[in-house]
Amino acid sequence: MSERVLIFDTTLRDGEQCPGASMNTREKLEVARQLARLRVDIIEAGFPVASEGDFEAVRAIASEIRGPRIAALARCVDADIDRAAAALEPAGDRARIHVFLATSAIHRQFKLKMAQDEILRRAVAGIQRARQYVSDVEFSPEDASRTEPEFLAQVVQAAIEAGAGTINIPDTVGYAVPHEFGELIRYLKEHVPNIARAVISVHCHNDLGLAVANSLAAIQNGARQVECTINGIGERAGNASLEEIVMALRTRKDAFGGFYTEIDTRQIYPTSRLVSHLTGMVVQRNKAIVGDNAFAHEAGIHQHGVLAHRETYEIMRAEDVGRTSELTWGKHMGHHAVARKLEEMGYKLSEAEVRKVTEQIKALADKKKAIYDEDVRALVEGQFIEVTRVWTLDYLGVMTGAIPTATVRLRRVDEETVRADAGTGDGPIDAALKTIDRITGIRGHLVDYSVTSVTRGKDAIGEVSVRVEFEGGKIVTGKATSTDIIEASALAYLNALNRYLDQQQRAPQRDLRAEPLPAV
Ligand code: KIV
Ligand code: ZN
Repeated sequence: MSERVLIFDTTLRDGEQCPGASMNTREKLEVARQLARLRVDIIEAGFPVASEGDFEAVRAIASEIRGPRIAALARCVDADIDRAAAALEPAGDRARIHVFLATSAIHRQFKLKMAQDEILRRAVAGIQRARQYVSDVEFSPEDASRTEPEFLAQVVQAAIEAGAGTINIPDTVGYAVPHEFGELIRYLKEHVPNIARAVISVHCHNDLGLAVANSLAAIQNGARQVECTINGIGERAGNASLEEIVMALRTRKDAFGGFYTEIDTRQIYPTSRLVSHLTGMVVQRNKAIVGDNAFAHEAGIHQHGVLAHRETYEIMRAEDVGRTSELTWGKHMGHHAVARKLEEMGYKLSEAEVRKVTEQIKALADKKKAIYDEDVRALVEGQFIEVTRVWTLDYLGVMTGAIPTATVRLRRVDEETVRADAGTGDGPIDAALKTIDRITGIRGHLVDYSVTSVTRGKDAIGEVSVRVEFEGGKIVTGKATSTDIIEASALAYLNALNRYLDQQQRAPQRDLRAEPLPAV
């Protein structure tokens, strides 16, 4: 018998809590649109009480996105629940309020300073308040995996009685191991009398690298919703990765009793790229499903095997996760063909943007013999997907030699002004970045720099990723691509600077999950 597993994507909430990964409202909307194309069942859009920016993003997503249900997080505190309800209001009957309260002894004693009966009372009150606004309420006993199972069962029973239709069991600190976590889900199924009235969900963190394994063990023992993020991003070591759970269930139907999801797996790779681009979080090369090496066969014996019969070394088809590499791009392509191919890759661009990409493909074809999807992705993401821009690069010229010198011209988008300067440095990249600092008047300190080639061949496009520390110790990531590494470095640095300026404009977000609850 095959059963559906709901996919609850929390990239925009838990994923965004990952240091340096924060996104503004327009960037979150862009991700939400792509999550809708991916056909996730629920999008957790944010934690509205945490900041004005979070509220605004949840409201914008609730207003625009059709298809998936839209969830917002709230503590069991009236003000949080009211704020979540207000942000979700445009989603109508697709709105879900997700309330949480820690239940483990360690959280009760040191964070909440509450006894078990107070936790029960607060959880019930929170769910009942949320139910006054929406019919779809999810409850999470935070740190469930470290909670006494008998008390957890009591809380879950009371939460269902109070009106929660989904009970989410979080492994908040990534402490669980698969057989134990599976048993916990089974225990709840067997010891909570009203459990059949709710969907059991799980939310696993990856501190021991077991988030996906724990989620799969939970499904085998009765969970029918998994909470996960694109590329596994999230607090600390991250959350369970959506692409790994979905492809494990699909590829190993035999082992997982035929569970299925409604995910359009061909949208997995475009979604991974978009999230990586907008958060600045680089995907490790050997990451399952979406890493650069996931479908690459280096060893000659493997290449030979794959050519003779693909399944000798491939358990999934690259096309099934949206990775295509046919050589269809070229200088003779018209903009209609470009638009269609871009859409297949998950990009929705305006006609003017498609025309611009078409011209750039023609220009690239003069420099490069073969143009691959990755080349085009790099072009599109570098120009059209980034939405936060205060400064853009107008001109960059460098002179190497005894005293490396850079000449930089920057455009300030909001003031429509252009400023230029020249300066020296320890090398051409250092000279370019120092000159950018002088023009903008903002000093950044490069704490991390890496360059990878995102396309193939000697004339490959390089991707530069930077982590820059700005005033007040704020660390921001930036990413950019170009066939010229010095230019890619300047663009990545400007990308980090633009994100920093954008974050400065928004009210800071507090980590309310770590704070004791206000008295009622
Ligand atoms: O990790 C966690 O416990 C959470 C909850 C709010 C679900 O993110
Ligand atoms: Zn979490």
